[in-house]
Amino acid sequence: MNFELSQDHKVLQDSVRDFVNKEIKPIAMQIDEEHAIPDELVRKMAEMGFLGSYLPEEYEGAGLDMLSYAIVVEEVSKACGSSGVLISAHTSLACGPIYTFGNADQKKKWLPDLNTGRKIGCFLLTEPDAGSDAGATATTYRREGDHFVVTGSKIFITNGGYRGTGVLFATRDKSQKHKGVSAFIIDLESPGVEILKNEKKLGIRGSYTTAFALDEVRIPVENLLGEEGHGFKIAMDTLNGGRIGIASQALGIAGGAFERALAYSKERKQFGHPICDLQSIQFKLADMWSKIETSRLVTYKAACLKDQKKNYTMESAMSKMLASEAATFVAREAIQIHGGYGFIADYEVERMYRDAKITEIYEGTNEIQRVVISKMLLS
Ligand code: CAA
Repeated sequence: MNFELSQDHKVLQDSVRDFVNKEIKPIAMQIDEEHAIPDELVRKMAEMGFLGSYLPEEYEGAGLDMLSYAIVVEEVSKACGSSGVLISAHTSLACGPIYTFGNADQKKKWLPDLNTGRKIGCFLLTEPDAGSDAGATATTYRREGDHFVVTGSKIFITNGGYRGTGVLFATRDKSQKHKGVSAFIIDLESPGVEILKNEKKLGIRGSYTTAFALDEVRIPVENLLGEEGHGFKIAMDTLNGGRIGIASQALGIAGGAFERALAYSKERKQFGHPICDLQSIQFKLADMWSKIETSRLVTYKAACLKDQKKNYTMESAMSKMLASEAATFVAREAIQIHGGYGFIADYEVERMYRDAKITEIYEGTNEIQRVVISKMLLS
């Protein structure tokens, strides 16, 4: 058992940190205020290989591994949770399933554009009445000649506003529940795809969260991903991987808030001393760091298990649950350490607190993670 990152992973971590300090940190507040990640930043992240980190070079990916991907998302999220989830949803939820379940033609057709950021990917699973209960998918499809015709609605779609490439779930017959669901690759510029709105949110304001209406959208039969009726399994498998991305995003937000709180506790003087001399602050720092470190261990373990092609369902759910709870805890304590200054935007921990909350919710609420973990324990 070796708890050290390899030399290659350390080099990657340093280069991502340099990039983040130069390109993302200075504009993180602007991203939040303007509710948008500049296209220029998306282009630069793509040039760095962040949008296809663990996808093979054959498909213009960076050819790294899952642990590298976790490191990239964590380091980016230390400065900007919105940019972190852009990478995470794009890679885990669009590139991931196309690579895992796509046939040779589909990989060749769709992956290079995604891995290089020419298209931004998203995952169209959630619906108004199918959130935690993903098997209740009501968006329907029927076959007409060499097309599937899809009608329904999708909500809360991270990255949806880019209208790039989606992995879409629809059922041929709602009464069949899980067994009726199929997965498709969809070009979101297709006729019949309408963006209803991009949501206004508490946090991750630079990230699109989009509602779509799908009206008789024609998807070529060659875009069926995996076998017909196997969509629910594809969704579950994809979310297992996606949860490592959200755990990494949460770790990054927690790490960013911790760094600021630690530095502030050394600078801020009250009662004639830096506040870090106070045991009440020291206890907070100890709790914050312990939660970050323990969740990082599980997150890296889940990533390594995926790299080793071992079962990682339970570890990915644990990592997402622990890291997201660490993020909300650490960001809240970081505000407390900053006192009144923590509540105002300039000190950034206020944004991190808002950004942290969603990590307890998306890719399955933490109640769902507990369901996944306990199912694994009891199976
Ligand atoms: N991995 C692999 N397979 C799984 C699985 C998992 N984690 N969970 C369930 N399955 C399989 C089961 O083994 C079962 O297979 P069989 O039919 O062969 O027996 C099948 O799927 C059905 O399983 P269940 O009966 O357990 O299904 P369920 O209806 O009780 O639901 C659930 C299980 C875990 C609650 C699942 O619905 C779930 O994960 N819900 C949460 C959905 C979710 O995360 N949504 C977030 C949307 S995406 C998002 O937020 C993205 C974003 O934009 C950032």
